[in-house]
Amino acid sequence: MRVLLTGGAGYVGSHAAWMLHRAGHDVWAYDNLSEGHRKAVPEGRLVVGDLMDRTKLEATLREHKIEAVMHFAALAYVGVSVTNPAEYYQNNIVGTLSLLDSMRAAGVNRIVFSSTCATYGTPERVPITESEKQSPINPYGFTKLVIEHALADYSHAYGLGYAALRYFNASGAAADSSIGEDHDPETHLIPLVLQVALGQRENIKIFGDDYPTPDGTCVRDYIHVDDLATAHLAALKNLNDGSQLKLNLGTGNGASVMQVVEACRKVTGHPIPVEIVGRREGDPPELVADASLANQTLGWQPKYTHIEAIVASAWHWHQQNPRGFVRGE
Ligand code: UFG
Repeated sequence: MRVLLTGGAGYVGSHAAWMLHRAGHDVWAYDNLSEGHRKAVPEGRLVVGDLMDRTKLEATLREHKIEAVMHFAALAYVGVSVTNPAEYYQNNIVGTLSLLDSMRAAGVNRIVFSSTCATYGTPERVPITESEKQSPINPYGFTKLVIEHALADYSHAYGLGYAALRYFNASGAAADSSIGEDHDPETHLIPLVLQVALGQRENIKIFGDDYPTPDGTCVRDYIHVDDLATAHLAALKNLNDGSQLKLNLGTGNGASVMQVVEACRKVTGHPIPVEIVGRREGDPPELVADASLANQTLGWQPKYTHIEAIVASAWHWHQQNPRGFVRGE
């Protein structure tokens, strides 16, 4: 299929772009490079453009005769969304509405949307099923939930076929280490711990060890970025006019912050000193997916089910790219 990936130069988007490309799809990344990396995109497949530029978006959809969109482009720092919500509402909501309108104008009727477990806020039951109440506790999660509602309404009114894929904690890197995780600034646990192993930081600060979890540190469901990519491919195949898929993507295995650090010690052989500091605002104690619906609907199953394997793939990338993608590339 001819597929446009907004945010296709970003972390999850670029892994999906490569997987689709290798599977023989005609792939175009549409990215303003505010966070993404030119080098992460298959050669000659990048259109530099902004979601707010409707003229360019629509022209790109028409020019490449796009049949489906995967919408990764978003701001995704929970903390910044609290201090600068305007940017998040503009980019994640207004930007996405601009995309949906451009799609309607160009007659593109299929979309796979990057949603998040942050739409659940602090869940009442773990593992989390899709029927859990969606009650976000930060603007980032709220912007994603608003778009889930917009997709449902557009589907009902205009026959849009969509899949909202609710990622848990995206992590790891491509098996051949050709692309990986590089955020600026980096705030995610695994890359930060690996920076300690690389000698780039002294220790890892653990945000709270007094949560109601087995070792007192927060539990998350780390899902490998290539497993997210295969779920996108499967969702794309499943979409029809008016499809409304809402699926959790996780492994179903929780790992605490301490367990992630321990996995990093094993994989890297570095002692990785830790420092316990206060809780980070807005962190729920435990987020673990029940992803059985994705399994039933898409026949999807993650390949990476153990935190050590996920950490090992990230470590290979970080060892080979200790400065990440060189800036501007
Ligand atoms: N953590 C630390 N120290 C650090 C960084 C993180 O202890 O230096 C802890 C966090 O408190 C959290 C866990 O490690 O308990 C994972 O934190 P990340 O920042 O790696 O990931 P989050 O769970 O906060 O965020 C991820 C995605 C978001 C998404 C969110 C949903 O990155 O986009 O899950 O909860 F919104």
